[in-house]
Parts: sequence; structure tokens; C-alpha cells
Amino acid sequence: MINEVYDLAIIGAGPGGYHAAIRAAQYGAKVALIEKESLGGTCLNVGCIPTKALYASTKLIQQIREHGEEFGVSCELKTNFSNAVERKNRIVRELVDGIAGLQKSWKNDVFNGFGKIIGGDINNGFDLAIEGDNGEKTIRAKRVIIATGSFPKLIPSFNIDHQKILTSSDILHPDFKEIPKSLLIIGAGVIGCEFANIFATFGSKVTVLEYLPLPIATEEPMIIRAIMNKFEKSEIDLHISQNVLSIEKTANGVKATTCPANIPKDEIESIEKKVFEADYCLVSIGREKEIFNLGLEKLGIETVRGAINVNPDTLETYVKGIYAIGDVTGGLMLAHVASYEGNVAIANALSSIGGFPIKPATTDYSVVPATIFTSPNIGSVGIRRAEAKEKNISVAMGRFTYSSLGKAKCMGEEEGFIMILANKENGKIIGASCIGAEAPELIAEIALAMKYGLTAHDIGSVIHSHPTISEMVLEGAEDVFGMAIHRRGRPRFV
Ligand code: NAI
Repeated sequence: MINEVYDLAIIGAGPGGYHAAIRAAQYGAKVALIEKESLGGTCLNVGCIPTKALYASTKLIQQIREHGEEFGVSCELKTNFSNAVERKNRIVRELVDGIAGLQKSWKNDVFNGFGKIIGGDINNGFDLAIEGDNGEKTIRAKRVIIATGSFPKLIPSFNIDHQKILTSSDILHPDFKEIPKSLLIIGAGVIGCEFANIFATFGSKVTVLEYLPLPIATEEPMIIRAIMNKFEKSEIDLHISQNVLSIEKTANGVKATTCPANIPKDEIESIEKKVFEADYCLVSIGREKEIFNLGLEKLGIETVRGAINVNPDTLETYVKGIYAIGDVTGGLMLAHVASYEGNVAIANALSSIGGFPIKPATTDYSVVPATIFTSPNIGSVGIRRAEAKEKNISVAMGRFTYSSLGKAKCMGEEEGFIMILANKENGKIIGASCIGAEAPELIAEIALAMKYGLTAHDIGSVIHSHPTISEMVLEGAEDVFGMAIHRRGRPRFV
């Protein structure tokens, strides 16, 4: 029996789904938000937020360790991972409660349970079954948004037991409070590198095994080199070009067996293997989309390579009236992309119902900032130099180092640089990469400039407050035309 009829039902309350629910309510829609676990999804519970809380602890430790004496702070530094985890848990709890409060304030109905589309169409509405602790409930909605996200990739030969061989969700569990003596990390992507920094700072002996010849391989080569140097200084043992064949539990911990990545499959058996041992292993080799038991097949919602197939412009699936956003669509797996996609899907869903003060929208992925919270932080947006070359775009690059900036010196943040790329033809900013203090924040200004077609001169014409780290962007932009004040050189491009 149908108890309620909603304008919109959203399955999944991660940064895609919960933002979309609020956005829809802001336009006056009646919204049902369905979540099987905790509000906030991966990002808030076992992703962006908990890792950034732990990162903040490591930052404080590193500052005291590296600069304490020089800054006039003398103390015997003792770290306590358990306290850092408690703090992380509290932050997560507060933010989850905050999201519940926001949904309530917008009068959205939040259902705790597993949501599944059981039938219907765009003319009559869709029926959804919600299986929760208190039994099953059915609701009807005129439009549906699937925002179910993703989960850590599991490979059978990696024997992930969630006790010793862990996923990122396991290692961020509220009860994982003891710092391992040694930690093996499989995959030097974003997650692997962020955890390597956290656990190495708290005293784990960290070994990272990466299949590719480089870690965080999509970043600018100069940024990758800088982070590899930093790993070496921090005694993070990075092994690249390693094909991890298996991971097993041992009497004392775990062991991973590898061979060189370039060995053809049929020669692996005969080749000499390497074995890496540690107390624990974290597997961070990417994520799979959460597409199971949602009723997709019955409705004819198409999946391609494990992701829900959507019209890339409108985010509508190929079943009219059902949309999908975020990780589950197989696009860029970033919380902020999921939230942005929520706006587009809401615009299209509500305008197709009619009567809401909103027009249809299409996606635009031309400017997507990305961040990595290693130490130092990394931020990037737009295209890399190699991509510009491939596209035959003639590039002028501005570069500025933190060691030349007054505010950075004062903060003891002299490590790193920003590089800003402009199109030589018209001066427009086409990309930037930054490694150093507040890099992810600095990239936001570049993203805005790119979105609105601004040039390096335009950035140079904006008064940037002094002394601030934001002057990295000003000087970097002025260096595009060879006129950074605090960098030696001659004009190169006017
Ligand atoms: P990823 O795709 O970034 O990196 C996985 C790494 O594992 C790759 O370098 C890959 O070459 C390597 N790999 C794969 N199989 C391997 C094997 N058998 N042996 C050794 N290495 C292997 O995936 P990751 O780090 O798990 O992150 C998942 C998603 O979450 C990404 O899309 C990422 O962008 C997102 N994320 C974003 C964050 C942020 O914005 N700060 C933070 C954390 C995750």
C-alpha cells in the first residue's frame, strides 16, 4: 500500500543525495531521502571528513616536530592516536547530526533503510520499497534520483578480512584506535597517499606498493616528484611498478607477494617474487559503484562497466524520470562533483514535473578542482602541461614558490610551489597545480577564474590581501607574463 506521494525520492544520502534533497526542498519540492547507513555517506563517515580530521592532527604534530624549537615552543612531544580518533569520531557525529537537522528544517522525510525502485513510470510515478529496521514501507515519487555512491574495491586474492587486511572504511572505523607498528598500503592513489602521511606521522612504519610507475599518476610530474621526495624524507617506503599478486594473513600480521608490473601474465609463475610484511594492510586500489539490488534490471535502467548509464548532459538515466548522480555514474569520484550533479539533476527533475521556479540545466565539467591532503597538500584544476601539448595549446606558465612569500615564511610553510597555466593565444587561465600550504584553498580562486574565462592579467589586477597565502595565486598569475614581483626574471609573455 502506498502511504505517501513525493515529488522526489532520493536513494542515498551522501554529498550527492543529501545536498540534492536540500536543494529540491529549497525550490518547494516534497522530498523523501532514503539512507541505509548514516547520513553523509562515504564522504562524511568514512572518507573526506574523518581523514581530514586525522590529517589536522598530523599537521599539528609535524609543525611541532619540525618547527617547535625554532618557533619558541619546547615540549616533549607524545602522540596519542586514540585521542585523534575520538576527536575524528566527534566531528563526524556532529556533522551527521547537523545534516539530520538541516533535512528536518527543510521538512524532508528521511527514511532509514535500503531503498529499491519496484516499479512505475514517469506518468504515474515510481514506487519505492524501503526495507528498514521497522519493516518495509512503500512510497511513491514523481521522480527518483539514485545517489548510492561506491564502496572500496575488493579483489578475492587480497583476502580482505576487515580485521588485518583492511579497506579505507575499516581503517576509519570509530574503534580503530591503535596505531599499527607497521602498515602496508596497496595503491598509491589519493587514498593510499593520504593514509601513508597520517600513519607515518603517528609512528607507523609505512610501506606503499603501487602498480603504476608513479604515485597519484594524474597530477603534474613536478607535483609527483615533490610528493615522492617528501615521502622519502618522511621514511615512507614507496615501491612503484609492483603488481600485487596476493595478500595473506600470517601468524603476526600480513604479507603481500608482488612481481614487477611489466611481467606478462603467463610468465608470472616462473618469476622471482618479492614479499612485503607488516602488522596490517590497507587496500586502496579504487572504488566500485553501488548498483546492486536497486531494482535497475526490472525497470530497464542500463549499466555500463558497473556504473549507471546516464545522459551526460542531463544526468537522466535512459528510463525517463529516473536520474543518477555521483560515484554510481562512474564519473569523477569526488564529493563536490556529486553535489554539483545533484543541482543539475534537481533542475531537470523538477522542471520536468513543472510548477517549480527552476529551469532545466546541463552539466559542465570544464572546471573541476581536485585536492589531495598529503603533507604538503596538493590542489589542481584544469589541464596539465602534457594535455595542453596533446591538444596543441600553446602554454605560458607562471610559477611561484612558497619560500619567496612573506606570509609562508612567517608560518614556517616554505615548502612547495604553484604553477599556473595560461593559453598563450588569449591569456586565459587553463589550469593550475599547487603543492604547499592551503593548496586546495588557493585552487578555488583559479577555478573561479577559469569558469568565467579570466586571464592571468585579470587575476593580477585583483587586490589580494597582504600578507596572505592567497598572494601565491597573485604572484603565480603575474609570473605567467614574467612580472611576479618577488621572482627574478624578465617579461616572457605580455
Ligand atoms: P585511485 O584510483 O585514486 O588510486 C588507486 C591506485 O591503486 C592507483 O594508483 C592504481 O594504479 C593502484 N592500484 C590498482 N590496483 C593495484 C594493485 N593490484 N597493486 C598495486 N596498486 C594498484 O583510488 P583510491 O585512492 O582508492 O581512491 C578512490 C576514489 O576516491 C578516487 O576516485 C579518489 O579521487 C577519491 N578520493 C578523493 C579524495 C579527495 O578528493 N581528497 C580523497 C580520497 C579519495
